[in-house]
Amino acid sequence: MTPNMTNEEKYALLEDFINQQENKSTSLIAILHYAQELFDYLPNDVQTFVAQKIGIPTARVYGVVSFYSFFTTKPRGKYKINICLGTACFVKGSDKIYNEFKKQLSVEDGEVTQDGLFSIHPVRCIGACGLAPVVMINEDVHGMLNAKEVAPIIKSYRDKEGM
Ligand code: FES
Repeated sequence: MTPNMTNEEKYALLEDFINQQENKSTSLIAILHYAQELFDYLPNDVQTFVAQKIGIPTARVYGVVSFYSFFTTKPRGKYKINICLGTACFVKGSDKIYNEFKKQLSVEDGEVTQDGLFSIHPVRCIGACGLAPVVMINEDVHGMLNAKEVAPIIKSYRDKEGM
């Protein structure tokens, strides 16, 4: 995400990126990735903009966005808490950790806390089964967790933000 940029600047960068693509239509996924990097999610306005600039029906963009789980149409927190519910993590109690995050933050899947800091996202195996149960918060990996560690972890991010 690029929080210090205005939306106008983000749209300008996105347009430049689209114009650099040799075959705009086959570059749709790369364009949407870039758009999500800029805006952090893909609201309808951004999807419509992409469709218009490429010259394809908006429905095709919607279709791609809803097909791939790495695209999201909802705003996310500054810290995205990806909780692995894959088998290895699940058998080691990741459901308890997941419920504890929801309880501590008073949010459901995909919702953002009122302070805008956190959102919770259940995910499938993230390839770190040896550390099960695993939670990734942005790029940080927290492994071998138990539910008691959830509150201190949240606090450490709040402290970082001075909140
Ligand atoms: S199942 Fe959780 S990292 Fe593989």
